[in-house]
Amino acid sequence: MDFGEFCSRLIEKTDIVKLISRYVTLKRAGSSYKACCPFHNERTPSFSVDPNKQLYHCFGCGKGGNAITFLRDIENIDTIDAIKMLADEAHMELPHFDKSGKHGIDKEKRLRLYALMRDAARHYNANLSSPRAQVARDYIELRRLPPNIVTRFGLGYSFDYTEIITHLKEKGYTETEMKEAGLIDRTADKWYDVFHGRLIFPIISNTGEVVAFGGRALRKDIPAKYRNSTQTEIFDKSRTVYALNLLKKKRRAGPLPYVIMCEGYMDVIALHKAGFDTAVASMGTSLTYQQAKQLKNYSDKVIISYDGDTAGQKATMRGLEILRENGLTVKVARMPDGRDPDEVINEYGADAYRKLLDDALPLTAYKLEMLKKQYDLSDRDDKTKYAAEAVKCILRLENPVEREEYLKTVSEETGYEMSVLRAQAKVTPDEDDRPAETESKPAPPPARDKSETYLLAAYVAGLPYVDPRDLTEIFPDGFERNLIDSVTDSRMRGMKDTAAMLYTDLPEGVQNRLPEIIGFDLSGSDEKVYGMCVRNLRIRRLEKKSVELAAAYDETRDIKYLEQSNDCKKQIKRLREENGGR
Ligand code: UTP
Ligand code: MN
Repeated sequence: MDFGEFCSRLIEKTDIVKLISRYVTLKRAGSSYKACCPFHNERTPSFSVDPNKQLYHCFGCGKGGNAITFLRDIENIDTIDAIKMLADEAHMELPHFDKSGKHGIDKEKRLRLYALMRDAARHYNANLSSPRAQVARDYIELRRLPPNIVTRFGLGYSFDYTEIITHLKEKGYTETEMKEAGLIDRTADKWYDVFHGRLIFPIISNTGEVVAFGGRALRKDIPAKYRNSTQTEIFDKSRTVYALNLLKKKRRAGPLPYVIMCEGYMDVIALHKAGFDTAVASMGTSLTYQQAKQLKNYSDKVIISYDGDTAGQKATMRGLEILRENGLTVKVARMPDGRDPDEVINEYGADAYRKLLDDALPLTAYKLEMLKKQYDLSDRDDKTKYAAEAVKCILRLENPVEREEYLKTVSEETGYEMSVLRAQAKVTPDEDDRPAETESKPAPPPARDKSETYLLAAYVAGLPYVDPRDLTEIFPDGFERNLIDSVTDSRMRGMKDTAAMLYTDLPEGVQNRLPEIIGFDLSGSDEKVYGMCVRNLRIRRLEKKSVELAAAYDETRDIKYLEQSNDCKKQIKRLREENGGR
C-alpha cells in the first residue's frame, strides 16, 4: 500500500463529523453540517462539513480539506503527526513508507524515544513525593508554586547520578537509547543522569510528546544553573517553543490576542500562575524563523517580556526582527530594575505586570529608545550619529505612515528638520529597502515550466512529502485544479490506479496534458527538491502579484497597494534565501 492509498483509507475510516464536533458545534443543514469556522473569527456560520464526501470547507476564509488537514490545522501539528493520531484512533497501523522523509525513516525509533522521555518525565515527577526530594519540595515552596502548577508543567526532580538509569532499564530501555534521548552521558565508562540534582522542566511538543528537559540546579555542587537537553532526533531547539503546547486548548476558541514571550522556564510558570496563561519561552536568546511560524498559528501579536534589558542586545534584537518579518506585531514590555517577569510578579504583583504589558512599546519605538541611551543628545557629534542610526532603523519599517511618525519624533528629539532627515534617509539606504529597485523588472513569462509539471506529477504519484496545502495555494483554478481534485477524490474513494482513473474521469479536452504529467521522471526527487519547486512557484506568483500591485499604486496612488507590493517583495526575498539565493 502506498502513502496515498493509506491516507485514503484512513480518511474513509475516520468520521469527519465526529472529529470536527470535538472542536465546534455542528448543526445539521440539509445533507451537510454547518458551524462557525474554527480557523477565523466569525459570528455567522460559513463553515460546512459534507459527511458524504468527508470534506469540510469554509466559505469565509477559504480553508477546506479532509480529516487529516483538519486535525493538522486545528492542532497546529505536522501532517504526519495528524495521520499518526487518526491512524491510532482508527486502529490502523501506519506502514513503513520509503522516502517518507525525516519522520518515516526512523519512525519506530522516534516512538521509542518519545516513550522513554515520557516514562522519564513521569518518574521524575513521581520523585517529588519521595523522602529524598526534600530539597526539591523546599525549592518549590520557596518559588511559591502551588500543586496545580507543578502538575500543569509536569515538574520533577532527579535524585542522583544513576537512579533514573536503573528505573528506565527496568522498563526495558537501553543506555544507548537513553543517550540518544539526551538523558544520560558517560565519563570513564560510567553512565550518569545529566539532570542529576536538578529540578526538571519537561519540554513538550505540539503533539504532546515530551521531547526534552530543562533542569535547574538545586544543589551547590552542581555547576551551571540551567542545563537543557542536547539536540536529539526528537528535539530541535530552534523549532521548539516552551509551553506552547499549553496554549492549544485556548487557541481552539479562536486566535489569541497576544502571546507573551519570556526567557526562562520560571518566568513562564510564574506568569501562568498569575493568570497570564499565554506566556511561552524561546529556547535561547535569538528567535528563529520556525519559531515565528509556529507563534503565528496562535496569534498575530507577540509581547516580548525578557529580563531587564536583554531585549536590547544585538542577537536578541535580530530575533525580534525575525518575528516582525514574519508578519507578527512585536511589542516589548520593559521590566523594571533589572527584574525578570517572575520577580515582577512575586515582588510587585500581577497588576503591576499587567501595567507593563499595557505600556509595552512597539519594536521600532523600543529600538529608538535603546539607541537614544547610547548617545548624549546635548553633544553635537552624538546627536548627528544618533539621527543617522535612528533613520536607518526607521527605514526598516514598511509602513510609510509609521515611518513619517517616527521621523517626526526624531526630528523633535534632535531639532533636525524633517527634510534633513529625509535627505539622510537617501544617503543611508538600508539593506531591507533594496528590493524597491526591482520594481521595474518585468514579471517572468508565466509559462508552465518544469516546476509545475513536477509538482502535479509528484501529487499524482502520491509522494509522501507533497503537502496538499501547497497545491491549493499554487493551483487555485484551471486544469491543474481539476486534476488535483480528481486525484484527491479518487484517493478518497480508495482507487488505486490514479492514472487509469484520470483518463476516465477528466474531461477529454484536458486529457492531452496527462501523458506529460504521468510520464514525468520523478527519480531523484526528495523533500528538498519538492521544497525548492514549491518556493520557485511561490516566488513566481508573488512577482506577478507585486508588479500588479505596483501598477495599481501608480494608477491610484493609494498607499495600501505600495505596502502590499513591498510585502510581496519581502516574501520573495525570504523565499530566495531559503532556496539558496536563487
Ligand atoms: P536566567 O539566568 O535569567 O534564569 O536564565 P531564570 O529563568 O531567572 O531562573 P531563576 O529564576 O534563577 O530560577 C533564563 C533562561 O536562560 C537559560 C534557561 O532556559 C533559563 O530559563 N539558561 C540560563 C541556561 O540555559 N543556562 C544557564 O546556565 C542559565
Ligand atoms: Mn528568575
